[in-house]
Amino acid sequence: MKIKKIGILTSGGDAPGMNAVIHSVVKSAIKNKLEVFGIYRGYNGLIHGDIKPLILKDVENITQRGGTILYSARCLGFKTKEGLNSAKKTCVEKGIDALIVVGGDGSFRGAYTLYKEGIPCVGLPGTIDNDISCTDYTIGFDTAVNTAISMVDKLNDTVTSHDRCSVVEVMGRNSGYIALNVGISCAANYIVTREFGFDEKDLFKKMKEAKEKGVNHFIIIVAEGILDVTKLAEKIEKEVGVESRATVLGHVQRGGSPTMKDRVIGARFGVKAVELLLSGEYGKIVGIKDDELIAYDIPNGLEMKKSLSKKLYEMAQGLY
Ligand code: ADP
Ligand code: F6P
Repeated sequence: MKIKKIGILTSGGDAPGMNAVIHSVVKSAIKNKLEVFGIYRGYNGLIHGDIKPLILKDVENITQRGGTILYSARCLGFKTKEGLNSAKKTCVEKGIDALIVVGGDGSFRGAYTLYKEGIPCVGLPGTIDNDISCTDYTIGFDTAVNTAISMVDKLNDTVTSHDRCSVVEVMGRNSGYIALNVGISCAANYIVTREFGFDEKDLFKKMKEAKEKGVNHFIIIVAEGILDVTKLAEKIEKEVGVESRATVLGHVQRGGSPTMKDRVIGARFGVKAVELLLSGEYGKIVGIKDDELIAYDIPNGLEMKKSLSKKLYEMAQGLY
């Protein structure tokens, strides 16, 4: 089958660098004489036919912008048989021969269902969480971590002035990549991740020991979904006797102009996806390992495991 028209969509939580991917796909497709269609709001755009052609002019000056010009969404309707059928019908009616899906694991599961229905698909990892196992890196992670670092550095200023403890919740869904990297970068006194568990008594003991050694301000980084940071701050005040405040960084971590890393890897992912489609390699997820781009069959890629480095975690926990 000779591919002439391709579609691109961004799905799940948005991530800085998604626009760099879109720019790269459009440029590379046009160089290869392909037509490109932008599909809006994730799989919703496929179900409802919200699709427009993309030309070079449409992707001018987007690489430096956060968010995604195609918008993003979590589309529950796509998980139903009717949703899938409508999406397939749209591809056939609009003459879209193949799809590039930028998102996380869930978005790739969606792409696989379409692929099994005969629509060639390629998935590109885009999520701030860095939680896709078949790739060392996902677009958006570096920008999100750097945003969180600059926020925690600011908290550190005021925490130091007031001899306080700051308990900071960062994003990551179920993974601790953001927490661990922000924790190390901000010389946090304690990092809490789902992967390595949390022992409240150990935290209080370490804080008391640190106080005895003359430490009088603290930064504690907590990956989301593990505990209530406000309650933890209250307990620290009571148990350790250090005035404490809680901060949830939240969606600010998803925004902002992408870093060099997110732009460059985003551009490389985009070119690779077009190459795969042109060479007839469908149903793949692109990953990056030791700086090399690799393509995995979607089910194999989804089954792979990667783990947060225990060595890095232990190194960080011993910072005082
Ligand atoms: P992410 O891609 O960041 O992991 P989600 O898990 O929210 O985000 O998935 C994004 C979207 O992908 C969902 O809203 C849905 O449209 C689609 N999707 C997720 N899982 C499946 C699935 N098992 N089958 C079909 N589509 C899915
Ligand atoms: O997957 C990206 C992410 O920002 C996670 O870190 C977070 O758990 C989730 O999305 C938040 O989702 P929503 O934007 O739906 O609140």
